[in-house]
Amino acid sequence: MAHGFRPLFHLLRPHLGSVALVLGASAAASALALAQPWLAKRLIDDGLIARQMPVVAATCALILGAALLALGVGAFNRWHYLTLSGKVLFALRERVFGHLQRLPPTYFARRSTGEILSRIDGDVAEVQRFVVDTVLATVNAVLVLAGTLAVMAALAPQLLAPAFVLLPLQIVVARRLRPRMERLVRRLRERNGEMSGFLVHGLQSMKLIQAMGGEARDAARFSALNRHYLDDLRRAELFSAVAGGIPGLLNGLAAAAVFLAGGLLVMEGTVTVGALVAFTLYLGRAVGPVNTLLGLILAQRRARVSLDRVMEILDEPVAVENPPVPLALPATAAGAIRLDAVTFSYGGGGPVFSGLDAVIPAGAKVGLVGASGIGKSTLVDLLHRHYDPDRGRILLDGVDLRHLDLAELRRRIAVVAQDSPVVAGTIADNIRLAAPDADDRTVERAAALAEIGHLGLDTLVGERGATLSGGERQRLAIARALLLDPLVLVLDEAVSAVDLESGRRIARTIDTLFHHRTRIVISHHPDALAGAGLILELTPAGLRPHAAEAVA
Ligand SMILES: Nc1ncnc2c1ncn2[C@@H]1O[C@H](COP(=O)(O)OP(=O)(O)O)[C@@H](O)[C@H]1O
Ligand SMILES: [Mg+2]
Repeated sequence: MAHGFRPLFHLLRPHLGSVALVLGASAAASALALAQPWLAKRLIDDGLIARQMPVVAATCALILGAALLALGVGAFNRWHYLTLSGKVLFALRERVFGHLQRLPPTYFARRSTGEILSRIDGDVAEVQRFVVDTVLATVNAVLVLAGTLAVMAALAPQLLAPAFVLLPLQIVVARRLRPRMERLVRRLRERNGEMSGFLVHGLQSMKLIQAMGGEARDAARFSALNRHYLDDLRRAELFSAVAGGIPGLLNGLAAAAVFLAGGLLVMEGTVTVGALVAFTLYLGRAVGPVNTLLGLILAQRRARVSLDRVMEILDEPVAVENPPVPLALPATAAGAIRLDAVTFSYGGGGPVFSGLDAVIPAGAKVGLVGASGIGKSTLVDLLHRHYDPDRGRILLDGVDLRHLDLAELRRRIAVVAQDSPVVAGTIADNIRLAAPDADDRTVERAAALAEIGHLGLDTLVGERGATLSGGERQRLAIARALLLDPLVLVLDEAVSAVDLESGRRIARTIDTLFHHRTRIVISHHPDALAGAGLILELTPAGLRPHAAEAVA
C-alpha cells in the first residue's frame, strides 16, 4: 500500500479535542461496565452467602446507580461521537470533491461517473467508518480488556491460564484469513463501481438505448451485474461469518475450561462462589474487546482498499495550477491574444498541434476554421486553461495565461462551447452562473438579447438541459457570455444548432454587442464569419491566414 494510514491521521488531527472527549467518555463507560461484575461478587459473597440484607440492599442501589450513570455517559458519548464522525466524513468528502474540481476534462472523459461516485460515496464512508468507529472501538477495547484482565487477575489469578490458553490460536487464525478477505472486499467494491457506472451511463443515454431497441440487452447486462454482485456479496459475507464465528467458538471452549478449573477451586475452598461468578462474567465481557481487536485486522484491510481508491483520486495530478502570485492585466487590456510556438498533446497520443504561432489583434473579429477533429476546440480549451500547452505560451494582452488568476482569466475570456452544457435549475439560474450577483433586469436583458427570454426565466430545465433543444442551449450559453462582459468572446460552433435565420440574427446581435471586443468565431457558416477581419485555418501544418473574402 502506497500510503499506509498516514492520511487518516491528518483527517483526525483537526478534531483531537473531540477525539479526547469521546475517548474520555468511553473510558468512563468502560469503568462503569467493569463495576457491575464486581458488585455481583459483593452481592453474592458479602450479602447472600453472609446473609446480610443491608449489604444486599446497598449493593442493589449501587448497581442501579451505575446503570443510570452508564445511560447518561452513553448518550453524551453517542452525541459527541456522531458529531466527530460526521465532521471527518464531510471533511474527506469535501477534500475529494475539491480535488475533482481542479482536474482537467480529460480525467472525467476517461472515467465513468458512476465509478467516481462510488469512490466519493461508498469508499469515503468506509474510510470514515474505519477512522472513527474502528479506531475508537479499538482504544475502547484495549481499555476494557486491560481493566478486565486486571480485575480477573485480582479475583482468581489461577483461572487466567485456562481463560486465555486459546488466544494465540485465535490470532493465528485471524491473520490467515486476512489476505483472502482483502481480495473479496476489493472485488465487491469494484462490482459496486461497475454497477454505479452502468446505471449512470444507462440513465443518461436512456433515449439512445430506446431508439436503438437496446432495452433487452441492457436489462440483461443489468441483471448479470446484479447477479455477479450478489454472488460476490454472498461469498464475502459467508467468509466473514465463518471468519467472525471462529473467535466465538474458541471463546466458548475457553469458558468451559474456566468452569471446569474454577469448579475444582471452589470445591477446594480457594476461590469463593462470588469470585467464580464474577470471573466468568468478566470473561464474557472480555470476549467483546477480543473480537473487536481480532476484527480490526479484517476491518483495516477493508479500509485500506477503500483508502487506496480514495487516494487514487487525490493523487491525480492537477493539470493547471492557479499562480500563487497572479499578475494583473495591464490597465489598457483590450483582448489581444498571441500564440507563441504552442504545442499540445493529450498525453498518450501524438501532439494535436505543434508550434502554433498567431496574433489576434485586440477588438478584431477572427474566424477560425479547419477540418473536424483538427483541434479547434482543443485550442479553445487551452485559451480557457483547462489544459496548459506542453511547450510555448499563450498571451493575453502580453501576460502569459499561466500568470493570470484563473477565475479572472475565465471572466475575461468568455467561451460559448460547442456542446453548451447546462446545469439543473431554471433558465435564470443557468444564465446567472456567469455572474451570481447579477440583478433580475440584467439577466432579463441578456436573455432577451440571446433570444431565450420567451422561454420564461423561471422555467426549469432538466438535468443536462434535456428539455432544451441544441439551439436553445447555445443561446443560453450566449446569454451567459453577455453577462460576463468579457474582453474576448470565443464562439465554438456556437450557432451551429440554430436555424439559419436565427443564426444570422444572433451573429448580428453578437457583432453589435461585442463590436469593440475581440471575437474568435469557429464556424463553417459564412454568415457567422461575415465581417471577420482575419480568417485563420488550422491545418496539420499549423495556423494559416486565409483570405477573408474567400469565405465571406
Ligand atoms: N479529452 C481528450 N482526450 C484525448 N483526445 C482528445 C480529447 N478531446 C479531443 N481529443 C482529440 O483531439 C483531436 C482534436 O479534437 P477537437 O479539438 O475537438 O477538434 P475540433 O474541435 O477541431 O473538431 C481529435 O483527434 C480528438 O479526438
Ligand atoms: Mg470542436
